[in-house]
Amino acid sequence: MKIILLGPPGAGKGTQAANIVKNYNIPHISTGDIFRKNIKEGTELGRKAKEYMDQGNLVPDELTCDLVASRLSEKDCESGFMLDGFPRNLFQAEYLDKFLSEKGIELDRVINIEVDPKLLVERACGRRICKTCGATYHIKFNPSKVEGICDVCNSELSQRPDDNEETVSNRIQVYISETKPLVEYYTEKGKIANIDGARDIDEVFGDIKNILS
Ligand code: AP5
Ligand code: MG
Repeated sequence: MKIILLGPPGAGKGTQAANIVKNYNIPHISTGDIFRKNIKEGTELGRKAKEYMDQGNLVPDELTCDLVASRLSEKDCESGFMLDGFPRNLFQAEYLDKFLSEKGIELDRVINIEVDPKLLVERACGRRICKTCGATYHIKFNPSKVEGICDVCNSELSQRPDDNEETVSNRIQVYISETKPLVEYYTEKGKIANIDGARDIDEVFGDIKNILS
């Protein structure tokens, strides 16, 4: 199964990706997570990416595309993969198409999670992430059992530095101008599956399972 998760910041890509991994056991490739790991480890890539991420802007394509190509070339991606947050503009989509066609790989589906921008700021600003295992919560919509503590591994929860109102608003604008055109791009290719993401997490996942079955 080779799929892409598309959708604005806070749409629920990461949340649904975790459900998909549990059910379908395919590698979850999130460019945002890869950049955050590099920032945590203090690498050169992390230092460069942070400048853009803190503003809510896209990290340049030359830092992003080869990274994804090399991750997709790893053995665990041979039988399937799930891209989350890549591609994010037309250049990246065309780059991915070229990479996949050279390898004789065909994408199965692009799952487009649609959520009204009005809901996105509250979703992103209320998000809490486990520092250790990466589990995602929301203070109102998906709270942990004990406030500030991860249900899975008991570690402390934290907030992403780009989850503040100003940066989220810019991320939404960047999504509209750079990423949203990909909905049409993949619709024309007959790959898109649109999902109403403004419902309960389990209901959204129910739709995803129907699409993937
Ligand atoms: P990235 O990490 O990809 O962030 P994003 O696309 O902005 O998306 P988010 O992770 O914020 O949202 P999500 O859809 O995963 O939502 P989640 O499931 O967590 O990218 C970060 C940055 O990295 C970018 O700004 C850019 O700088 C850089 N970058 C990354 N990829 C790049 C690329 N390809 N090119 C260039 N730059 C790149 O859910 C959000 C919250 O809502 C959670 O609290 C969750 O619990 C809650 N929630 C989820 N679903 C529901 C629901 N159905 N109902 C109620 N609450 C829900
Ligand atoms: Mg995410």
